[in-house]
Amino acid sequence: MNLRLTLAKLNARRKLIKTFKSAGIYRTIEGVENDRYIYPKIHDVSISDNFTRLVFSLPNGLDPKLITKNYFAFQQFYGKNIEIKGEIKTFELIVYQHAPSSDLPYDYEAIKPHIDRHKLGIVCGQDRNGRYVAFDLLKHPHILIAGETGSGKSTQLRSILTTLIMTKKPSELELYLGDCKRQEFHIFRKVEHVQEVYSSARDISSMLRKVRSEMDRRSKLTEVFEVSHVDDLPSGERVPYIIVCIDEFVMLRNDAEIMYILTEVVAIGRSLGVLAILSMQRPNAKVLDTTIRANLTVSMGFKLRDAIESKIVNTPNAHLIETAGRFVMNSDKLYELQAPYLEMEEAKKLLNPFMIQKEK
Ligand SMILES: Nc1ncnc2c1ncn2[C@@H]1O[C@H](COP(=O)(O)OP(=O)(O)O)[C@@H](O)[C@H]1O
Ligand SMILES: [Mg+2]
Repeated sequence: MNLRLTLAKLNARRKLIKTFKSAGIYRTIEGVENDRYIYPKIHDVSISDNFTRLVFSLPNGLDPKLITKNYFAFQQFYGKNIEIKGEIKTFELIVYQHAPSSDLPYDYEAIKPHIDRHKLGIVCGQDRNGRYVAFDLLKHPHILIAGETGSGKSTQLRSILTTLIMTKKPSELELYLGDCKRQEFHIFRKVEHVQEVYSSARDISSMLRKVRSEMDRRSKLTEVFEVSHVDDLPSGERVPYIIVCIDEFVMLRNDAEIMYILTEVVAIGRSLGVLAILSMQRPNAKVLDTTIRANLTVSMGFKLRDAIESKIVNTPNAHLIETAGRFVMNSDKLYELQAPYLEMEEAKKLLNPFMIQKEK
């Protein structure tokens, strides 16, 4: 066996034990003369070009919260580019050589193959190994995007929507957009897929009423044809997917009707082909009513203010993020990703071929 590798592994073990020691991650067995300390057991160390991975398990009886609580100690020993996975007994510490790239220009040709294999592909971003992560919104319905002002929420929406427009026909996908800050979605106004773009609570609420009556119509259709999902309707009755996307939806929280319809969309929309993507700046448990929260199966936590917000959004450590466009995603598992950067001018160019004349 390679001696250098063996030594490197041994050093990696020693360093981890040191971290446990200084962070107080051990059990103490009191003895008559001396106390004994039981450290977590290190099962495996693997070292590759990009990262070092250590797998360890806690002695029984040790509180697993010690790991999250002492995340800073791991960072003090290993630097910022680490990831800790696991929850009760067995954990994995991954120490990366490089920070994920914080510069990922939007590249449609590179993204397209990852989207094409899904019915309603959502492009998320790239992981540390430069791999694109995308998922099917029909399989993981409804997205919550949270983060401080300037953390990259609107940019992410722009890249998701532009990609959808470029990969789906208007007969396959209709978009209903709400832009409470009036800054973002005007570039989509003339796009053929886009049914409506509104900013005021009054207009958004009438827009949502339309979505709701379409949901009623679709429910009846699925009953008449005895199918459980609109995708199973006979070919003459097929309906386009609908995505309701609202940037900064918290600004609508005082409108009971809007909140009611949004709750309904996320609760029953999936089988009707109606999906929601919502962004918010300051997640708090009051606004994010539990029914809504429970039904947003994917959350993307861009930089958040504190651990409480990270907890509400379900994206651990999102408050430790320092760069715009970086986020923690929680869907089938946790990811740390860099979002593609699609500037508004570039998006306009990409959207140009999809523009039509509209009366409004
Ligand atoms: N994916 C990204 N990659 C690099 N920089 C980004 C990215 N997303 C956002 N930024 C930077 O952050 C700024 C704010 O982004 P924006 O999406 O408007 O944030 P938010 O909507 O959360 O307030 C952008 O103007 C850009 O400079
Ligand atoms: Mg914004």
